[in-house]
Amino acid sequence: MSNRLIIFDTTLRDGEQSPGASMTREEKVRIARQLEKLRVDVIEAGFAAASQGDFESIRAIASSIRESTVCSLSRANDRDIARAAEALQPAARKRIHTFIATSPLHMQMKLRMEPEQVLEQAKLAVRFARQFTDDIEFSPEDGSRSEEDFLCRVLEGVIAEGATTINFPDTVGYAVPELFGATIKRLRERIPNSDKAVWSVHCHNDLGLAVANSLAGVMIGGARQIECTINGLGERAGNTALEEVVMALRTRNAYYNLELGIDTTQIVAASKMVSQITGFAVQPNKAVVGANAFAHASGIHQDGILKARETYEIMRAEDVGWTANKIVLGKLSGRNAFKQRLQELGIELDSEAEVNAAFARFKELADRKSDIFDEDIMALVTDEEQAHESEYYRFVSLAQRSETGELPLAKVVFSMGGKEYSCQGSGDGPVDATVNAIESEAKSGAELVLFSINAISSGTQSQGEVTMRLSHAGRIVNGVGADPDIVVASAKAYISGLNKLHSKIERLNPQTEPAP
Ligand code: KIV
Ligand code: ZN
Repeated sequence: MSNRLIIFDTTLRDGEQSPGASMTREEKVRIARQLEKLRVDVIEAGFAAASQGDFESIRAIASSIRESTVCSLSRANDRDIARAAEALQPAARKRIHTFIATSPLHMQMKLRMEPEQVLEQAKLAVRFARQFTDDIEFSPEDGSRSEEDFLCRVLEGVIAEGATTINFPDTVGYAVPELFGATIKRLRERIPNSDKAVWSVHCHNDLGLAVANSLAGVMIGGARQIECTINGLGERAGNTALEEVVMALRTRNAYYNLELGIDTTQIVAASKMVSQITGFAVQPNKAVVGANAFAHASGIHQDGILKARETYEIMRAEDVGWTANKIVLGKLSGRNAFKQRLQELGIELDSEAEVNAAFARFKELADRKSDIFDEDIMALVTDEEQAHESEYYRFVSLAQRSETGELPLAKVVFSMGGKEYSCQGSGDGPVDATVNAIESEAKSGAELVLFSINAISSGTQSQGEVTMRLSHAGRIVNGVGADPDIVVASAKAYISGLNKLHSKIERLNPQTEPAP
């Protein structure tokens, strides 16, 4: 069996299925470029049949990524598969990933199909997909709760039709490591043509076991592909976290003895980018990418670290891309220096007009903040892209007053549909007053379901990055905004959320939407 382990990243597909995590085409291309720098083997770029926007995002990624294989998910029907093939057409290397549920519960309650029909549809789907590429992945959805005899028939059938990767999903995060690994091992032993496909694992983290299950799938089951997302992003409790599984395999390489293509020094940049774009903040004590992951706060640890770092450190911060915050640019930096830094950060803006707009924002920020870090540049590009994407609402200015014992007041100027409004509001705190002021004119009816603030870099001069999750008419979006003034950052985040609600992007969820 090969020792090469394939890393399949599904941040842009399964990660994006997380409510509020939807990304624009430009944002997805930016993340895909970072994933390519990280040298992931396969990028699942989306679900082409979900919407026109998803289709175009996959196509844009397929056109710009050269090293990693680009993949689209599709349900097991001809229409979805043809759409995936069309979106992937420009890709240097392409994969179609088709799936159908195989557990009794999903077949009866969701698909309303008999097992024999599911078996036939799975085989037909793989046969159809083979016309477009010979790199075909098949997943029996809810695999960990499916009956083994039936799984054997389905998987043998799809391999015979030409599936080259068999992905075994723990869709609802129900599996435990030893049993999960043993199931994959038995399936591989029982299915006569199992050696014709690479076996893969796809784990959800509902019991906090996604990484452990993935590793058991590899070590006990013999899987040679792990599906994962940056920061473990994904529906409910998320997916296997790429950074954790990769660093476990790297750090304990003597035990796992597997080869990975990943450039681990790109991990932190990828983590920051995904968190900034989606508004899903990374908890400080998160393994590998959390702000505290390498901070040795307690005195005894610091003493040990000074004598020999291995006393308390099993990985080196620099190996995963943690570098001390560098002052990269300042007030006097010119357009060329700014443009070069954008390139170094892998940010490719489409036109000179966009570079100019981003540079104008940079100058504005540099007037108010003396040291500009990479994180600041990334935040301003995200702001710029989001404003560019849908500018029905636009933040103009804010004045706010709060004093101990006094009712906070805010005056916000913003535009809506091209017309400028100046409005006032009061509230329990300055952020509440700001949101009330905006709502007094916007009247969106949106409910604020999450509000979080993070410092982008360190120190009190850092920009505050705010996420506001808004819910309206069954839709959930994350608005993000950054500014050295956290109340202004909050106003920007609220307005970014309103823009996302206004853009009314409707997309199908591949797993819960009935097939056509
Ligand atoms: O969790 C799951 O089952 C999936 C499949 C579509 C692979 O995401
Ligand atoms: Zn999944």
